[in-house]
Amino acid sequence: MLVSLEALAGAKGKAKFWVLPVFEGDQILLRKYDVEKTAKAWGFSGKKGQAAAVTASSGQPILLVGAGSRKELSAEGVRVLIAKSITHGALQSAQPANVLFIAAGLQAETIPTEHLVEALAEGAVLGSYTFNRFKAKGTEKDALPFTPARWMVALDKVRALDRQRFAAGLTMAKWTNWGRDLLNQSQSHITATRLAEAARRAAAQFRGVRCAILGRREIEKLKMGLLLAVNQGSSEPPRFIELHYSGGRKGDAPICLIGKGLTYDTGGYNLKPGDSMKDMHMDKGGAIGVLATFFAAVELKVKKNLICLVPSTDNRIGGNAFVAGDVFVGLGGISVEIDNTDAEGRLVLADALAYAARFKPSHIVDMATLTGAAVVALGDEASALFSNDDALANGILQHAEPAGELLWRMPLWDKYNDKIKSNVADIKNAGDRWGGAITAALFLKRFVPEKSRWAHIDMAGKMKVRPGFPYAPAGLGHGFGPLLLARWLREL
Ligand code: BES
Ligand code: MN
Ligand code: ZN
Repeated sequence: MLVSLEALAGAKGKAKFWVLPVFEGDQILLRKYDVEKTAKAWGFSGKKGQAAAVTASSGQPILLVGAGSRKELSAEGVRVLIAKSITHGALQSAQPANVLFIAAGLQAETIPTEHLVEALAEGAVLGSYTFNRFKAKGTEKDALPFTPARWMVALDKVRALDRQRFAAGLTMAKWTNWGRDLLNQSQSHITATRLAEAARRAAAQFRGVRCAILGRREIEKLKMGLLLAVNQGSSEPPRFIELHYSGGRKGDAPICLIGKGLTYDTGGYNLKPGDSMKDMHMDKGGAIGVLATFFAAVELKVKKNLICLVPSTDNRIGGNAFVAGDVFVGLGGISVEIDNTDAEGRLVLADALAYAARFKPSHIVDMATLTGAAVVALGDEASALFSNDDALANGILQHAEPAGELLWRMPLWDKYNDKIKSNVADIKNAGDRWGGAITAALFLKRFVPEKSRWAHIDMAGKMKVRPGFPYAPAGLGHGFGPLLLARWLREL
């Protein structure tokens, strides 16, 4: 689906099918489009969630969608509105080649124009995402929603800044969908090697990106003992993905993104029960999130020096697998007692954090589907943010609203370090049952390079799409990350 931004006057003739969002009670708009009476007959008043397919007396088919109160419109509301329009029955059965989405009336005081324009682009690209790679063509109609060839978003006037913002929205959403395609393939298709290949292929699209894929030998040479420990039970070799982009001044300290790249997490010998294991091919959600963020930022020509690091393996059982009670030393030189083989994410991240030290990053942001405890604490629509720096934390939090994310800062209480004290090693990899998201973050903190501002996002709750979510297929991978972090990078 080609998504474009158009000036309303010129675009009207280019599409047979129109979508018209209407604020609650906006009779003037309904009159202007000559659909006031039919709207009334359908009981359409512009309330949020309402939709009505009507025909103007000119014969023009128009899908009216309720935008709710003018005082409550948000960027997220815009994305939802568009996604719902695309999947609406009237559009699905009419199957128009071109659709005109009339956003001209959507400007409201509650939403800055730049956020509106970005969300208009994101909603269309994300809302039309489907994953049909493994389905026989045409057999399952429901699984193959129709998407028009062109989706034209119309404003009264299109300024240069609007074009720029619209393009930024398209870019962030495009890389989100790129990530979703990887996320939705399990270990049988996306191993650590394949994940690295996908990153390398993406990197090759850009001149300024340097990509290094470290294999087992190099990982051994670097003494990444914690990534290797998790990998011991796997029949697949580990990979460490390293990407560099120099958009900033030479010599400027880089910003480092790190993502947990577990292509499958069985739990290891602390084996997960079947129900909890089922979705664990999406345990690479953090890796996908930072990779998509990195490529979006590069495409947006962010003026920063960026580094993206992804430690990747699966976590399995087998004759060589690590077990609880083992002790390993990672790249940082800190010894770790394995308390639980299912607390593997923090192990691979620890080696990546320690590795990051050599680049002397000003900021490090890591993202991981790290703990079930984060989901227990905040629910399955939110992510937990931890940081050793208020400015960094607030800088990220500020973009949660336009990105449509629920993000909540959690504490790094020193006291809980007692929970991860080991009798035999410097630290152990799991605490007791309580405050599990915090002890996981405290574990990571031990490996953070001293002078770096650091933020950790535990996104376990946003690994998979909840039923009823409007702009991604339920049960599949979310693609959390780029909408939030590419915004942050751009405005940092
Ligand atoms: N990948 C899981 C966390 C997870 C759980 C992500 C549910 C998404 C949904 C992680 O590796 C894990 O298993 N964490 C353990 C830690 C515990 C053993 C200390 C957990 O949360 O139970
Ligand atoms: Mn685990
Ligand atoms: Zn895991």
